Amino acid sequence: MTQVTIRGLGLQRGGVPILRDVDFSVEAGEFCVLVGPSGCGKSTLLRLISGLDDDAGGEITIDGVSVRATPPARRHVAMVFQGYALYPHMTVEDNMAFALRRAKLPAAEIESRVREAARILQLEPLLQRKPGALSGGQRQRVAIGRAIVKKPKVFLFDEPLSNLDAALRLETRVEIARLHRENASASMIYVTHDQVEAMTLADKIVLLRPVSDDPAVTSVVQVGAPMTLYHHPANLFAARFIGTPRMNLLPVRVTAVTAQGVEFELQGRRWTAAVDAGGVEAGASVTVGVRPEHVRSGADLAGAAGLRCRIRHIEALGEHSLLFCDAEGSDELPALVARTHDERLRVGDAIELSWSADAIHVFGSDGQAFARRR
Ligand SMILES: Nc1ncnc2c1ncn2[C@@H]1O[C@H](COP(=O)(O)OP(=O)(O)O)[C@@H](O)[C@H]1O
Ligand SMILES: [Mg+2]
Repeated sequence: MTQVTIRGLGLQRGGVPILRDVDFSVEAGEFCVLVGPSGCGKSTLLRLISGLDDDAGGEITIDGVSVRATPPARRHVAMVFQGYALYPHMTVEDNMAFALRRAKLPAAEIESRVREAARILQLEPLLQRKPGALSGGQRQRVAIGRAIVKKPKVFLFDEPLSNLDAALRLETRVEIARLHRENASASMIYVTHDQVEAMTLADKIVLLRPVSDDPAVTSVVQVGAPMTLYHHPANLFAARFIGTPRMNLLPVRVTAVTAQGVEFELQGRRWTAAVDAGGVEAGASVTVGVRPEHVRSGADLAGAAGLRCRIRHIEALGEHSLLFCDAEGSDELPALVARTHDERLRVGDAIELSWSADAIHVFGSDGQAFARRR
């Protein structure tokens, strides 16, 4: 069942476009992650769904009903913010019970909901403490607990982990994934600018970008499963945003369109990308993209066509190393990044980089991806 639908949503503030033509839906039980650069309107979108803001054009429905006229408290949503916004003078238990008491739920019901949330979030030993006596991670769990006790149909999370250190982020991320499993019927709409969170938590990613004065630029770049965005970015924006280190992108000219795909030239050698050419012909300017893990590297690639490079910098990360390489004799090509397990390579070494035809993405001059052959 579709729980949240957003259609043609747009918002301006002071004549400046903030969101344009936002369209996506979230199924019951689905974990939807909104991701995109700072300032692209992620928080604004959550506030519109929650009802905290509402001067937008377009439509939001929850459970099939337009919520335009529904006040926040009756939308069956609960929001968790980045700043925990706990009441400092109240205990953990009272913080979690506060909204339920105000809604005049029976005391026994409040007690049972708070106990259940405390169990899920492992807050039972802390129920009588005040926020000042909690760590950042514990405070954030209380903030999540306050959302759980409301038994919402939709959880809205706005960068809930961004104030936590790396270890706690991982721990709390696992916690949130578990919370989602235990609340199988509730939908989650989760905002982050952290790709790892987006990739690991999402059933569905909605990638957003800032909109400009150009009415042709809409907020939503691509909607899909994490692996779809990773392996089939719809355009250059998605290709640049998803993946760390990011995809190598090289400007090239098409030399021929063949039965195998699109052919182009680098350092006098011909390469083929296994993509459908669309209407493109020889001579067209395109961008080819290859992810660092799909770049093979070595002093001798046993006759395979390689791109001659020199290693400018190495980041040895233990599990693998990243090679930052300059293409020989070319000022036009940007530095390339290759992932390798070869620990013998040194800065200044001459190497060849290579990749297979089916690892190459091609983007037209309008930035749109050519369909890849699978
Ligand atoms: N109250 C406001 N008045 C005017 N502009 C705002 C207001 N709130 C946010 N903005 C602008 O809206 C854009 C989106 O903000 P926000 O939703 O916070 O982005 P994100 O959460 O993706 O970083 C930003 O350019 C921001 O400057
Ligand atoms: Mg924000």
